[in-house]
Order: sequence, then structure tokens, then C-alpha cells
Amino acid sequence: MPQSSIARAIMIFGVGLILMLGAATAWTLLRPAAQVSESKSSGEALIGGPFELVDQFGQPRNDADFLGGYMLIYFGYTYCPDVCPTSLGIMTQAIDQLEESDKAKAERITPVFITIDPERDKVENMKQYAEHFRPDMIAMTGSNDQIAKAAKAYRVYYAKAADDSSSDYLMDHSSIFYLMGPDGKYVKHFTHNDDANTIATALAELVQPE
Ligand code: NI
Repeated sequence: MPQSSIARAIMIFGVGLILMLGAATAWTLLRPAAQVSESKSSGEALIGGPFELVDQFGQPRNDADFLGGYMLIYFGYTYCPDVCPTSLGIMTQAIDQLEESDKAKAERITPVFITIDPERDKVENMKQYAEHFRPDMIAMTGSNDQIAKAAKAYRVYYAKAADDSSSDYLMDHSSIFYLMGPDGKYVKHFTHNDDANTIATALAELVQPE
């Protein structure tokens, strides 16, 4: 092959590789959102799965411990300046509201908070943080690996914000509430754009008496 043809072949290969990497990156970035809407439309339980974590009292907890009741789960981190406290406030208000209208239903729901920042969120942080919200909230942390597995099961995206190497780093993360049923399967999700009243109304419809 003459040299120019070799150069052209290398260039074509290079462009092909870049396109493939671009497509793979786009697929990875778009995948969580796509799966959430897919599970919503089909009703299939693509969200959820096994986890092994530790709660704010230092007790080991796994997904099976929650079977028989509903979980309203949110993934975030205690150092979050805005989105997480707002979201957990909405979660708290929604369950408070349901408690007023139908106490038995509200008692069937455990509000669950799982950190995506296990490096900083230790058991003690989780305990102090959970006290700002509902007294029945279970706030869980774990090893990096345990958190990664739990987040993967719930299709939760998280990463350290790009340019931050200090200990004050921010985390990028999905902000979604998942309602999981007594069988451990996905029922519905909400976002932090849903207000407490919307979520309370939906919970009243979806949560079945024991
Ligand atoms: Ni946050």
C-alpha cells in the first residue's frame, strides 16, 4: 500500500473510533433516564434490587429487611447544599400530609435516604442529618462498593463534580424518589419537581392497606 493510502486508512480508522466512543458516551449518559421512563411506561420492575448497607444506628440493613412495607427512597448526600435537603423536605412533607389524611397508609411507608458520598457520609453524619427529617427515616451508608451496587440497582447516577479536588467537593447525582412496593418491586417514581401535595396524593392512591 502506498504511504498516502496508509495515512488515509489510519485517518478513517481514527474518525471511526472517535464516532464509536462518542456514541458509547452518549449511550452511557442517556441510559439512566431512558430506563426510568421505560419502566414507567411498561410497569416492569427494572428499578431496584439487592443492597447491603448500614443504617444511621450502625445496624446492617439489606433490601429484604424492608419487604412487607413500602419504601420511598432517595439517593443524595449530606453535604449537598440545595437539592438534597429540598428533596428530603418534600419527601417529609408528603408523608406528613398522608399521615394526617390516612395514618395507616403513612405507617406502611419507610422514608429511606441512601448516600452517594460514602467517603464523607459516615454513620454519625447520617444520624445527625436524618434527624432533620422524619423520625422514621432510615439513612444508610456503606463502603464505596456497597453504595455503587445500591446505586446501580436503582439506576442512580452519581459522580464527584469535575473540577473539585478539595474536601469540599460537590457531587453530581440523579434526584429521583422511588416508591418500592411490599414485594420489593418498583411502583412509581417522582422527581424533586413534584411538590409534596402531588406526591402525597399519589401515595394515597398507590399504597395499599395491609
Ligand atoms: Ni444533592
